[in-house]
Amino acid sequence: MKLGVNIDHIATVRQARRGESPDPVYAACICELSGCASIVCHLREDRRHIQDRDLYLLKQVVKTRLNLEMALSEEIIRIALDVKPHQVTLVPEKREELTTEGGLDVVRNFDRIKDSAERFHKAGIKVSLFIEPDERQILAGKDTGAEFIELHTGRYADAKTEEDVATELEKISKATVYAISIGMRVNAGHGLDYHNTAPICKIKGIEELNIGYSIIGRAVFTGLERAVKEMLEIIKRESH
Ligand code: PXP
Repeated sequence: MKLGVNIDHIATVRQARRGESPDPVYAACICELSGCASIVCHLREDRRHIQDRDLYLLKQVVKTRLNLEMALSEEIIRIALDVKPHQVTLVPEKREELTTEGGLDVVRNFDRIKDSAERFHKAGIKVSLFIEPDERQILAGKDTGAEFIELHTGRYADAKTEEDVATELEKISKATVYAISIGMRVNAGHGLDYHNTAPICKIKGIEELNIGYSIIGRAVFTGLERAVKEMLEIIKRESH
C-alpha cells in the first residue's frame, strides 16, 4: 500500500497571511524525498488554500505523481486539462464546508461525470471518483469509465464506538472487494491519522491512502520529513 500526501494545509497556513510561505511546492519536494508515492492537492473554486500558481509549479516539480482533487466545475476542468496532472480525483464541493463532506453522487450526476471522464482520458489523465463505500455508486462509477475509486473513510474516522468503527471498516472492506471484482482500482482517504490508519492498511486491495490534515498537523511539531516517515512506517508495518 502506498501513501499520497495531501499538501493543501501547507497552503492554508500561507493563505492565512496571503504571504509567500510556507510554500506547498517546497512541501511536495520534502514529501517526495521522504518516500511518498504521490502528491495530492485540491484546487477549490474559492481558492482557499492551493492557488493556480501552485498547481502549475507542482506539475513541473513533482517527480512521483500529481493527483488533483477537484469539483466538476467548468473553470476547474479547463485548468486541469491545461495542467495535465497524472490523475484527477473528482470530489463534491460546497463553499460552506470545512472539508470535503461525503462522496460524489455518481448515480445522480452520471452523465456529467462520464462526459468529463472522457475529456480527461482524451488528455491522457487518469480519473478517480471519491465515493462512499456503496455498491450502487461503485457500479455507476465503473460505467463512467473512471479507472479508480477513492473510498471515503470519513465516516470510519468519525465513528465513536467500537461497534460503529467495526461497521464502517466492514463497509470499506466489502466495497474494496466489490470494486476490484468489477475491475476497478481502489484508493482510500479522508480523516486518516496516526491512530486510525492501521486497520485500513489491513484491507487487501487498497492501493494508496491519501492523507493530509494529520500529517501536516504533526509536521508543525516534528517537521514534515519525520511526519511523512512516521505515517509510512505505519503503512509498511500494517499492510500486506
Ligand atoms: N482524499 C480526498 C478525496 C480529499 O478530499 C481529502 C481532503 O482534501 C483527503 C483525501 C485527505 O483528507 P485528510 O486531509 O482528512 O487527510
